[in-house]
Amino acid sequence: MQLPAGSALDRLLVTGGCDATVSVADFRKIATAAASALKGTGARTALCALAGTRVEGADLAARIRTLLSAVSLAVYRYDSYKSTKEPAAALRSVAVLTDKRGEKTTRAAVREASALKQGFDFARDLGNEPPNVCHPTYLLQQARMLKQAGKMGRADKVKVSALDEKKMTELGMGAFMSVSRGSEQPGRMIIIEYKGGKRGEAPVALVGKGITFDTGGISLKPGPGMDEMKFDMCGAASVLGATRAIIEAKLPINLVTVVAAAENMPSGRASRPGDIVSTMSGQTVEILNTDAEGRLVLCDAITYVQKYKPSAIVDVATLTGAIIIALGSHASGLYANDDDLAEELLGAGQRTGDRAWHMPLWDDYQKQLKSNFADMANIGGREAGSVTAACFLARFAKEVPWAHLDVAGSAFQGGAAKGATGRPVGLLFEFVRARAQG
Ligand code: BES
Ligand code: MN
Ligand code: ZN
Repeated sequence: MQLPAGSALDRLLVTGGCDATVSVADFRKIATAAASALKGTGARTALCALAGTRVEGADLAARIRTLLSAVSLAVYRYDSYKSTKEPAAALRSVAVLTDKRGEKTTRAAVREASALKQGFDFARDLGNEPPNVCHPTYLLQQARMLKQAGKMGRADKVKVSALDEKKMTELGMGAFMSVSRGSEQPGRMIIIEYKGGKRGEAPVALVGKGITFDTGGISLKPGPGMDEMKFDMCGAASVLGATRAIIEAKLPINLVTVVAAAENMPSGRASRPGDIVSTMSGQTVEILNTDAEGRLVLCDAITYVQKYKPSAIVDVATLTGAIIIALGSHASGLYANDDDLAEELLGAGQRTGDRAWHMPLWDDYQKQLKSNFADMANIGGREAGSVTAACFLARFAKEVPWAHLDVAGSAFQGGAAKGATGRPVGLLFEFVRARAQG
């Protein structure tokens, strides 16, 4: 809308257009439409008036986070490798209008939203990076950058370290190593410790699948669409992105993030169908399909992270094609051995629109993993492929409250809009934010 001459504003963008209370889902749609219209105007700055909006179960802070996230996602671009770049989005800054009473809440929400934007952009950039650049060592280099964000005054709250293949072999991570050995690129187990919370308080643990390229190994994948297997590190990207957002927002919580980074390649050193390996937990695995590699790197990461005595473990992985068949791209598949943890994650997904759907982890499925020669097989047959993958991981989480997000459908898009979505950074950040708030 064009405004009269002399007005302090150039344009007015009105969205929503009703004064009733709307649902969180509708508000998010309105926010997304507003963000895309805003981008279209070519405006350099924008001022949002949100105080009058009414959204079911969303306070002012939540509404601000929702609107600003929509804008962040809309203005993202990835064109590092294009010779001619599309003109950058004109939008430089977005401000939120507030009165004195709402000032403190508004400032905090805006700070959180900009921390979240950095986390989302980080995750999407990592996901989109080509696999000849984004290998395990690159992920480690990128993780090291998080140390910068962790310098708060004189306090140094972030520690980044990594296990190399020699160390992992010593620790008995035979499952991780069976995947990593097939590649010329050395595998890495990356560990980020953030101490933002009380001294001695049990950390939340995030674990990410970081297969920087998944050829399937000796159980080679078919050619068409194989390029999309560069996105097989999107679980890792999302836990790194969430970690970045948590550090930038200085959330008062202790966190340990572990990324299992390896490349799944066929080679003379690659594992064969029929190989039996022993995991760090002591359990043995018969590898019946080398393309079910995600669970092999994750099981050792899940065992390893337990040395930090976490209050909960959440792993994120592009684990199975089967979850895409079950849920499409709208929801991540959620599995958990603890109902309270599941509720927390489902709630975080609901509030942010980065939704998850609770899948069964019943004992009935466990028998599909039976092996004639080892403690378990690494595949469970055609039926319920995403469930049996989760059942496999559950055997390594043991008694610790643990949840698994299968994000094969939600973390990236194929087709014309091919690219990393950054999901589930929004869910993870909200989960930890709500925990930190108590
Ligand atoms: N990375 C794939 C899963 C995947 C498929 C992610 C499509 C994103 C899009 C995983 O490593 C895999 O290959 N899983 C197999 C498991 C099977 C061999 C039991 C699958 O889903 O086919
Ligand atoms: Mn695979
Ligand atoms: Zn994979």
